[in-house]
Amino acid sequence: MIVAIDGPAASGKGTLARRLAAHYGLPHLDSGLLYRAVAHHVAARGGDLHDPEAATQAARALDAATLGDPALRGRHAGEGASIVSAHPGVRAALLDFQRSFAATPPGAVIDGRDIGTVICPDAEVKIFVTASAEERARRRASELAGRGEPVDQAAILEDIRRRDERDTTRAVAPLKAADDAVTLDTTNLDAEAAFRAALAIVEGNP
Ligand code: C5P
Repeated sequence: MIVAIDGPAASGKGTLARRLAAHYGLPHLDSGLLYRAVAHHVAARGGDLHDPEAATQAARALDAATLGDPALRGRHAGEGASIVSAHPGVRAALLDFQRSFAATPPGAVIDGRDIGTVICPDAEVKIFVTASAEERARRRASELAGRGEPVDQAAILEDIRRRDERDTTRAVAPLKAADDAVTLDTTNLDAEAAFRAALAIVEGNP
């Protein structure tokens, strides 16, 4: 079974994907980490994130063993990821890794922006997770605070809006719900309620 979970930054899709994966005993791939790792790699070498060549080269050289690096979870990597992810060469370089992850039995839960539309268009289950920008900013702020990172609410909201804008308007694989995805709005749901709603979708009773 392949479960594709897409949605904007801080919509709760990562938490949901992890819980669904544990529940069904499936491996989980957070595809955002791939783009974060590419941005981190380019920035660490003093490269320009807007340079498609540098970013594509970093994507081709990506080592999946580095995806556990805590630096990838920070704000800078996320911001950088939304820049490098717009380069078609970067997306092409990361395609095979994601598809073979999905194709390996027993399947997978993968979360990202284009999983249901581009990476796994034939996924058995597609969920598009949304929440208001304000609620997502609030969640991101408490996540950062929990990790001891500085929190500036207004900057975080602005960050989220800028990322939404970039992710939805880029030419390749823009963030959007697949035609056959079920939309799950988590603005007024806590993690537990969102999980139960997602289970109902997977089981075919949304
Ligand atoms: O999900 P996360 O916030 O970690 O993603 C970081 C950035 O990586 C996103 O803003 C988006 O630009 C990019 N991304 C993407 N396609 C995916 C996953 C992430 O373009 N499947």
